[in-house]
Amino acid sequence: MGVSRVTATCILTVVVATSLAVLTPGARGLGRDDDFPPGFLFGAATSAYQIEGAYLDDNKGLNNWDVFTHTQAGRISDGGNGDVADDHYHRYTEDVEILHNLGVNSYRFSISWARILPRGRLGDVNPAGIAFYNRLIDALLQKGIEPFVTLNHFDIPQELETRYRGWLGAGIREEFVYYSDVCFKAFGDRVRSWTTFNEPNLYTRFQYMLGVYPPNRCSPPFGSCSGGDSRREPYVAAHNILLSHAAAVRNYHTNYQAKQGGKIGMVIAMKWFLDPIFFGDYPRVMKEMISSNLPKFTPEEKKLLQTNKMDFIGINQYTSIYAKDCIYSPCALNTYEGNALVYTTGVRNGKKIGRPTAFSSYFVVPQGIESAVMYVNDRYKDTPIFITENGYSQHSNTNMEDLINDVERVNYMQCYLKYLSSAVRKGANVRGYFAWSLVDNFEWIFGYTVRFGLYHVDFDTQERIPRASAKWYRDFLTGSSLKDDTVQSLRADS
Ligand code: NOJ
Repeated sequence: MGVSRVTATCILTVVVATSLAVLTPGARGLGRDDDFPPGFLFGAATSAYQIEGAYLDDNKGLNNWDVFTHTQAGRISDGGNGDVADDHYHRYTEDVEILHNLGVNSYRFSISWARILPRGRLGDVNPAGIAFYNRLIDALLQKGIEPFVTLNHFDIPQELETRYRGWLGAGIREEFVYYSDVCFKAFGDRVRSWTTFNEPNLYTRFQYMLGVYPPNRCSPPFGSCSGGDSRREPYVAAHNILLSHAAAVRNYHTNYQAKQGGKIGMVIAMKWFLDPIFFGDYPRVMKEMISSNLPKFTPEEKKLLQTNKMDFIGINQYTSIYAKDCIYSPCALNTYEGNALVYTTGVRNGKKIGRPTAFSSYFVVPQGIESAVMYVNDRYKDTPIFITENGYSQHSNTNMEDLINDVERVNYMQCYLKYLSSAVRKGANVRGYFAWSLVDNFEWIFGYTVRFGLYHVDFDTQERIPRASAKWYRDFLTGSSLKDDTVQSLRADS
């Protein structure tokens, strides 16, 4: 089937709430080997705090999310926390087995900094933490699954949160370089793909502009917190993250890459983080608008950034939004966008940009993945790109049959992959795709109220139950195409 017919069906599914019987024709014709290049990584993704649990086991230190969820449970939709989560720390062999059953050739996970260095660089390395990730990495490799490792996915040792107010203190840069060095040394003989940070552009906004993530710092009109400056601190934190990233990349390139043969990148959720990394400075318009609240790079720091470009770009792509430039024509700004003179919305003329998901700001807009990838490919000159996250959320209180027979997720993945393959066909240097997530997990301030997993998790028993999407992904990855009646029979199976 030609792309155009599939594409038309995927667009149709965006605007028309419809049944699976209508959706499946759009899926036919999508093939791992036909639509993606050899060696393309197909995987699933998770992060440490969201799945590991075992928050006090084997000398792990407390991290900022442990403390935040314990002391401010009211800020989490269901009052939940990651104390147990998916109990992955104890069940990782089962999780490697389900990855193997899916037929993926890669798995993206993150390392818990507080498990490796409970007190940061002023304390000792925790051998039990190292041993856990060694076991995980070895189990993956034994099944032919490549580890794709994120060094920092939101959680930092509480001691550093207290000492530096998280990413506000410049001292945390050295901490990150030290921590990443410990990881390169311990795991780099087997890990070929590293990413330094996950979505720091969003994270710093949630931490220091809106104040909804630890350390809950913000100021009006963005939010009401006990301390903070929403107009300045997000940029200070981002500045420290950018410089931490560049220093870790320099260390990896200088001391590890030749002998270990890996690559290092960063995961972003679009927006402005890539310009400083690739061009050594903030975008001009950002400097004009944020003015003295935006830190400046010294000439040495500019050089550090420019000479230590990352080897690949990770993009987390879930949805698209409309954006209106408010510089020249004034418009009602939403605080969510902070100081950027832009108005964003998922609705135009009363019409949603795509079908809604359980995540209120995420709509289904499959064609957005192609535009995003083409933009990054053009602007950052063919740097290899990985889609490090892409996934569909359901409300946890959906009935069990629909939770398991997740036809909307199947359709979402098919359509996003189809548009991704179109970007590949147009020459974009895309090297991999990771579905978010392998299993339902702790969704930050939404606790366990939404579910993104290919596998449903019963959090009382920790049973992992494959959804229709897991079966579809396995069929796609192992080459057999899904017949129209297959999904119907999945409904009967469930
Ligand atoms: C991005 C984040 O990296 C991940 O932690 C989160 O669960 C998903 N998006 C879904 O919101």
